[in-house]
Amino acid sequence: MNDASPSTARVLPDAQTVTEVTHWTDTLFSFRVTRPQSLRFRSGEFVMIGLLDEAGKPIQRAYSIASPSWDEELEFYSIKVQDGPLTSRLQHIKVGDQIILRPKPVGTLVHDALLPGKRIWFLATGTGIAPFASLMRDPETYEKYDEVIMMHTCRQVAELEYGRQLVESLNDDPLIGEMVAGKLKYYPTTTREEFHHMGRITDNLTSGKVFADLGITPMDREHDRAMVCGSLAFNLDVKAVLEGFGLREGANSEPLEYVVEKAFVGDGV
Ligand code: FAD
Ligand code: A2P
Repeated sequence: MNDASPSTARVLPDAQTVTEVTHWTDTLFSFRVTRPQSLRFRSGEFVMIGLLDEAGKPIQRAYSIASPSWDEELEFYSIKVQDGPLTSRLQHIKVGDQIILRPKPVGTLVHDALLPGKRIWFLATGTGIAPFASLMRDPETYEKYDEVIMMHTCRQVAELEYGRQLVESLNDDPLIGEMVAGKLKYYPTTTREEFHHMGRITDNLTSGKVFADLGITPMDREHDRAMVCGSLAFNLDVKAVLEGFGLREGANSEPLEYVVEKAFVGDGV
């Protein structure tokens, strides 16, 4: 019997099998796993995933589902924290390995939490792009909005690559390629390495640079909706900027103009 045999599946609660792993940088990787047949989720939601530690105890963390709700598999985009209880182990997973996946999706970055609008802004730093990797691949996003603007900011150019390839692949996507064409505007920036567009999301919104670069009108409450996912400091600063444009924070229970989710808990690495 090998490691991927049913006996392993019995040991791991809610086990799913790894089908693909891609390492993007020393600190970032993505992977795909089988999807439990019963799992239904809304693009943008997160689940708990994990591994067993050496003592057989589960180590579980929140992860945004990066794949869209129509996909047969589930994709995740992950940080590698060298001494992190989960990711020090998770970064070594290989095709055929099993992970724990608790099939209870939740989260605020869902279309239902926003009032109808004309443009939607996805604002992310680092791994905060994960829920938008799901939402950018969801036909509902393009049915609901005339324009979709993805702003993603990282320190280094290499950290943008997962998002860049994903956006590029959308144009050839048989399901949503046509819907995406002309609607999705991608605005990646770096802050600590030379790149064609640079600067923090907050600064590029406040200065109006992003509006000028994309040739679009500034944000307003009537037309614009936003979803935010980054560190706590980023989220707080973006909220202040969005409020400055007149947008108000909504929730599943009370849809308004923007919603926010933490990409992780803590100060960053
Ligand atoms: P932890 O002990 O969990 O973290 C150690 C420290 O590493 C943290 O205090 C923080 O300073 C830093 N850190 C943790 N995660 C990140 C990160 N993503 N980016 C930068 N610094 C970080 N992580 C992902 O990689 N991808 C996701 O899609 C994702 N979705 C999340 C959704 C929600 C709602 C929340 C609350 C967290 C999410 N996280 C995500 C973070 C994730 O839950 C874990 O914190 C991360 O996997 C590291 O786990 P760990 O046990 O190795 O280290
Ligand atoms: P900067 O390099 O100017 O700090 P981190 O790796 O620290 O989580 O940061 C990821 C990206 O988010 C970096 O480009 C960083 O810019 C940016 N960033 C960090 N904190 C904020 C904030 N409070 N407001 C806007 N951007 C931020």
